[in-house]
Amino acid sequence: MEITIELSRLLNELETLASFSDAPAPAVTRVVFSAQDLAARAYLHKLFCEAQLKLRTDAVGNTFARWAGADPNVPAVGTGSHTDAVPHAGRYDGTVGVLGGLEAIRALQRSGFRPRRSIELLAFTSEEPTRFGIGCLGSRLLSGTLSPESARQLKDSDGKSLEEVLRQAGLDGSLEDVRLANQFYHGFVELHIEQGPLLERKGIPIGIVTAIAAPATFRVRIEGSGGHAGAVLMPDRRDAFLAAAEIALAVESAAKDTRSADSVATTGVCSVFPGAVNSIPSRAVVEIDVRDTDLARRDGMLSAIRAACEAIGAKRQVRVEVDLINADAPAQASPLITEALSASCQALGIEFMPMVSRAYHDSLFLSRIAPTGMIFIPCRNGVSHRPDEYASPEDIKRGVQVLASALAQLAQ
Ligand code: GLV
Ligand code: MN
Ligand code: MN
Repeated sequence: MEITIELSRLLNELETLASFSDAPAPAVTRVVFSAQDLAARAYLHKLFCEAQLKLRTDAVGNTFARWAGADPNVPAVGTGSHTDAVPHAGRYDGTVGVLGGLEAIRALQRSGFRPRRSIELLAFTSEEPTRFGIGCLGSRLLSGTLSPESARQLKDSDGKSLEEVLRQAGLDGSLEDVRLANQFYHGFVELHIEQGPLLERKGIPIGIVTAIAAPATFRVRIEGSGGHAGAVLMPDRRDAFLAAAEIALAVESAAKDTRSADSVATTGVCSVFPGAVNSIPSRAVVEIDVRDTDLARRDGMLSAIRAACEAIGAKRQVRVEVDLINADAPAQASPLITEALSASCQALGIEFMPMVSRAYHDSLFLSRIAPTGMIFIPCRNGVSHRPDEYASPEDIKRGVQVLASALAQLAQ
């Protein structure tokens, strides 16, 4: 069976998808269920239909595009990723796994391959936490990691609930119906850019992911006392932003103190109220991302950050409320998938290496319900979540070849 990838078509599709953006090119901003996200979804649906795939969209907007196999009674093989993009991002994060997955299916169709198992392409809703504060919303619901009741509590920064946003997007099904049975997929493979520098540094074109690091998120609300920036003297202040600033420094220390390169912690959001140059901040909200490959060490950082929040609140006489938004366990890749991927690389004569994913992915949650694995391709200078994110056409092509070959093996 010869698998040929139509690379220029795939690159054109990646370019078109990148044009659905709220930021001027080369930056891409595509927040879930924004007008641009809805337009991008319509474009993808058209491509999926042109490939003769059968479409289904669930109540949270996860899209499933199925190439029916010869035996409809056996579990399908899944592939896919996400197409939402964080503010001021690039064009490859997630999209390579969706459009690359589509091209892998088209390449198999062109080769004359007839799968026994159905092959299903997934485009997950809101892998990025931008709008609702929690990442992998679609795959969390689909795997039962997030309950429909918890999902119904989610609101965006304008106070709109997830259900309201879904209704406005034309999705009025029940969130209870999103969960898939544990045997739904025989296996799941996600193609993604590495988002780190290792493959490029080593000159190796393919990474086979063996494990995904454990992510966690805190939202911390700080309530101090506002007032006039000229009239309130320094000893009388209870400045909420200064407490937030000290908390951000404590977050950095929590990661550095483990002395492990695998510990990372970031304060990526800080909003200050009322936000006037001549007013003392009375309220601040920070959001903190904490990750490690080792669960106990990640949890140690969470405890250190909680303790720091309490101590800083007491010292500065501000009220500090800490909410844990998520604290997920790491995932191990399944041998069923890693073996299919290494066999594919060997058959194609492509060098590969095993590696850990430090970013999280929808695969973290798919692994709770199906044997799961990931293919990484290099990205220039390891850059991601930036407009200069770049993966070369040759690397994208190799990633799609490995994916197609693995899907063929798994679907037999
Ligand atoms: C996903 O985008 C992540 O933040 O790891
Ligand atoms: Mn991302
Ligand atoms: Mn991604």
